[in-house]
Amino acid sequence: MNTFTFHNPTRLHFGEGQLLQLTAEAQKYGKHVLLIYGGGSIKRSGLYDSVRELLQRAGCEVTELGGVEPNPRVTTVNKGAQLCREHRIDWVLAVGGGSTLDCGKAIAAGAHYNGDFWDVVTNKVPVHSALPLGTVLTLAATGSEMNANSVITNEQTKEKLGWSSPHVYPAFSILDPVFTVTTPKEHTVYGIADIMSHVFEQYFHQDSNTPVQDGFCESILRAVIATAPLLLNDLTNVGHRETILYCGTMALNNVLSMGITGDWANHGMEHVLSAVYDIPHGGGLAILFPNWMHYVMEDNIPRFRQFAVQVFGIEAEGRSDLEIAEAGIAALREFWTSIGAPSKLAAYGIDDQQLEAMAKQAAGRSPIGNFRKLGQSDVLAIYKMSL
Ligand code: NZQ
Ligand code: ZN
Repeated sequence: MNTFTFHNPTRLHFGEGQLLQLTAEAQKYGKHVLLIYGGGSIKRSGLYDSVRELLQRAGCEVTELGGVEPNPRVTTVNKGAQLCREHRIDWVLAVGGGSTLDCGKAIAAGAHYNGDFWDVVTNKVPVHSALPLGTVLTLAATGSEMNANSVITNEQTKEKLGWSSPHVYPAFSILDPVFTVTTPKEHTVYGIADIMSHVFEQYFHQDSNTPVQDGFCESILRAVIATAPLLLNDLTNVGHRETILYCGTMALNNVLSMGITGDWANHGMEHVLSAVYDIPHGGGLAILFPNWMHYVMEDNIPRFRQFAVQVFGIEAEGRSDLEIAEAGIAALREFWTSIGAPSKLAAYGIDDQQLEAMAKQAAGRSPIGNFRKLGQSDVLAIYKMSL
């Protein structure tokens, strides 16, 4: 186990009926709020009306920015930051999926920076402060509701980059599973693949003496694997939505990475894919991860054996460790296929034309990942395995 310092300042309001906490929270951060949301799902579900009413009860004056894109664009961030400065906004409320929340983080920080926010995303300019941010999450996937990360796309340069600052942890996040039931099947599946991938990024490490961390990861994975098929057959089941929502937050709120060094190469490779082809993040991960597993598994067969036995219940008797490890990866592929996740880049019409350029973008400057450091040729090999 590595030494670590843990601090997560987000106040989490979780469960059915918790939306009502919004009024009391809104009263803490000032009168002028910028409400941001995506392409309209919150209007169709009725959440928008509820949020407006609760903000009104708190005496807030609301400025709005709708239309945040999936894979949010830096142009939208710049527009939101400008609105904050023009309207003397006190705090930002992001209502939606991970894209809206990530955009909210960028706007909250961008309000205090007069230039192009891409300067921050590319680390040219540090974040010294941000407006307070509140979130109401509608899609279980990214963990953005309880972490300090944000992923922003620059359409002009075809780059999608993550950035992070302790100043953009949400001050509060409201997770009411009732408002996730309208998530379409497709995005529910992508969310499930993303949640599992976040656990994988932290479970496949090379550190030792991590039995508790391993157990946390395995427990989340088993819960997702048991619940996902039930939920996909019954999309409006609040209990199943609640389980997946809780898994999503716990998978990426820094708890699983206490004392370990996560890998994160798959996220690096996927962000390039969705920058170039604008595909859903969870879909890209479902394609890449099993191929990465095959590519690196020999570096730590015992860990892959443990994954197979503890997560998928693979029978160990009469099999070599390598066979058990391979059976675990096969079980993951089978599980993802069974819930409708893609397994080939061809599912998005992606051929081999951009693979070299993408490998260069992902690992050309420096190697990525920690389980095994991957250079450009390794990334290219994994992209090719994914065709
Ligand atoms: O835009 P609206 O109309 O709201 O529709 C969205 C969008 O079309 C829809 N949706 C969300 N909640 C819904 C709903 N539709 C009906 N009912 C609901 N309750 O779902 C679509 C996808 O939404 P999006 O926010 O893009 O999905 P997700 O939450 O998966 O976020 C993906 C983004 O987060 C980044 C990804 O790279 C991607 O840009 N990530 C952020 C991370 C973080 N901040 O820590 C980590 C992740 O690894 C990830 O990279
Ligand atoms: Zn992810």
